[in-house]
Amino acid sequence: MQAFSFATTAQIQCEVGAARRLGELCRAREAQRVLLVTDPGITKLGLLNEVLPGFAQAGVSIEIFDQVQADPPEAIVLSAVAQAKALNAQLIIGFGGGSSMDVAKLVALLAHPACSQDLAQIYGVGNARGQRLPLVLVPTTAGTGSEVTQISVITTGATSKMGVLSPLLLPDLAVLDAELTLGLPPAVTAATGIDAMVHAIEAYTSILKKNPLSDLLAREALRLLSANIDEAVHNGSNREARQAMLLGSCLAGQAFANAPCGGVHALAYPLGGHLHIPHGLANALMLPHVLGFNASVAAPWYAELAPLVVGERLKNGAVIEQAEQFICALADITQRSGLPTRLRDANVPEDLLPTFARDAMVQQRLLVNNPREMTENHALAIYQAAY
Ligand SMILES: NC(=O)c1ccc[n+]([C@@H]2O[C@H](COP(=O)([O-])OP(=O)(O)OC[C@H]3O[C@@H](n4cnc5c(N)ncnc54)[C@H](O)[C@@H]3O)[C@@H](O)[C@H]2O)c1
Ligand SMILES: [Fe+2]
Repeated sequence: MQAFSFATTAQIQCEVGAARRLGELCRAREAQRVLLVTDPGITKLGLLNEVLPGFAQAGVSIEIFDQVQADPPEAIVLSAVAQAKALNAQLIIGFGGGSSMDVAKLVALLAHPACSQDLAQIYGVGNARGQRLPLVLVPTTAGTGSEVTQISVITTGATSKMGVLSPLLLPDLAVLDAELTLGLPPAVTAATGIDAMVHAIEAYTSILKKNPLSDLLAREALRLLSANIDEAVHNGSNREARQAMLLGSCLAGQAFANAPCGGVHALAYPLGGHLHIPHGLANALMLPHVLGFNASVAAPWYAELAPLVVGERLKNGAVIEQAEQFICALADITQRSGLPTRLRDANVPEDLLPTFARDAMVQQRLLVNNPREMTENHALAIYQAAY
């Protein structure tokens, strides 16, 4: 067996309504002063209304930082760190989508009283040192899986993002509570849900670090996500479907945290960088085309995953035919969810495609995991097919 290493969040609380007990959970970790990091949309929606009274009951004082923006810039991280230090916070909560959780991870590191590093020093792999404050992550989208990944993604320039990768960024506790996702709009539900499905698929076909634990998690994630995404999109108040999506996204996160993503993410990133197309939608637009390109190599793996998505409608046939049914079934999910299915329908200018192909080649940390080698010419042909 090929050697592998696997790391994940120490404790996962998967329970509808658990967020109402957040105060108690912080108290159990002996924290008396807590900073909760979130975005203004979350506070405006009242998602904290049911959560905050539990802090008073538990005798834990809490401050809110709610200035996180999508694709968070460095300045937001720094002002959240300043608030945490002023409060002398003993525990950090990240409450929201990937953006809020990613900011909270860095606040837990940089606001630790013994921290001697600044943000610029910790970008890259394994550069963060020392300790962090206790960290609890509560996703309100399903999702990025950021609650179980060792990475935080920060916007550093007009079209550039940088990541901090460190085991220190894995939280002490992740809380999965469907009550927080009941009001997630259909388009966000679909895009973030497909993002999670892509995490599972790309982990399963990750050429360098594919491993038996990630495979197990990816398969169960894909089963949960494909069985529940239609219901979550079209009947968002269904708690069972919402909880299954949160768990599926968390399992997919654990899979790709240890068997990293590949070509779909590499080709999706330039769409976000240049046009601010949401991460999940960008993945959905590229998914069938990158999988079609990979199929000449990865068809046996896609055929293994096909029953989990196609279900009883799967027709017997050669491996490549089963892989094609898998890819079609995934494209159908995007179609049914009402998201745009072609780049032109997402208002992507055709003359940017060569720029995207060039930018995608910068994503070598992702492309090295793709099952089929991809050149700039291949990438351009894939964008043209997706157009
Ligand atoms: N760390 C990782 O492992 C990882 C992985 C993938 C992506 N990311 C990062 O995550 C970010 C994207 O995260 P995201 O897709 O979760 O979106 P997001 O956190 O950027 O939030 C998008 C919008 O959804 C709203 N929202 C969130 N929860 C809601 C709810 N329950 N009801 C209604 N509205 C809600 C927010 O207010 C916000 O306006 C990007 O910055 C990306 O780089 C991180
Ligand atoms: Fe993703």
